[in-house]
Amino acid sequence: MQKIPLDLATRTINCGPVLIIGTKGKNYDDFSAVAWNMPLNKEPSKVAICVGPSHQTWTNIEQYGKFSCNIPGLDLIPHLAYFGGVSGKDTDKLKESSVELFKPDELPVPALKKALAVLICEVIEMDKETHIITAEVTLAFAKGEYFSDHWTGKEGVFPVNHLGGPNYQCGGKLVNQSKLKSW
Ligand SMILES: Cc1cc2nc3c(=O)[nH]c(=O)nc-3n(C[C@H](O)[C@H](O)[C@H](O)COP(=O)(O)O)c2cc1C
Repeated sequence: MQKIPLDLATRTINCGPVLIIGTKGKNYDDFSAVAWNMPLNKEPSKVAICVGPSHQTWTNIEQYGKFSCNIPGLDLIPHLAYFGGVSGKDTDKLKESSVELFKPDELPVPALKKALAVLICEVIEMDKETHIITAEVTLAFAKGEYFSDHWTGKEGVFPVNHLGGPNYQCGGKLVNQSKLKSW
């Protein structure tokens, strides 16, 4: 065991699934990447995400009080890198990437068709000091072949973990994907 720089300390526990957060916007809807997230409670179901207040995602959530957590698999990593590499302040990322949306009924926020699971969340609290947004999950969807009570690992399909920088891990497979600044 050897000392590592403190600015790398959080990367050792940065192993939960990375999320694509979907929000409704004043001008257009948005998706962004969020690696810092955690479950908070089972009943009622609650989660926390950490979002920079300068991001369009924060502004959209502040305005509409709702967001979707989209759990990507391997095939969505390029989109993840694009949504996390460009701000929705001046770019319509949905239109630019022509991403397919998941629209079961009228969802209050955009969600992704290719996601392995989608959680629709309503804000409980937004803390500008810590950047933590806590929310209740009011609706949840998952692809039954890959999530049935738990992630099944069928066909080697798993959520993606962000290991830091351009490094991702999915079902034991290491992926190098730099942030995409355009689609
Ligand atoms: C893999 C990955 C993980 C990220 N995780 C976070 C995070 O946990 N919190 C955060 O505020 N930004 C995170 N970002 C950065 C935002 O996704 C990025 O700043 C994005 O452009 C914000 O978009 P928006 O302005 O449309 O909200 C991450 C980016 C990537 C590529």
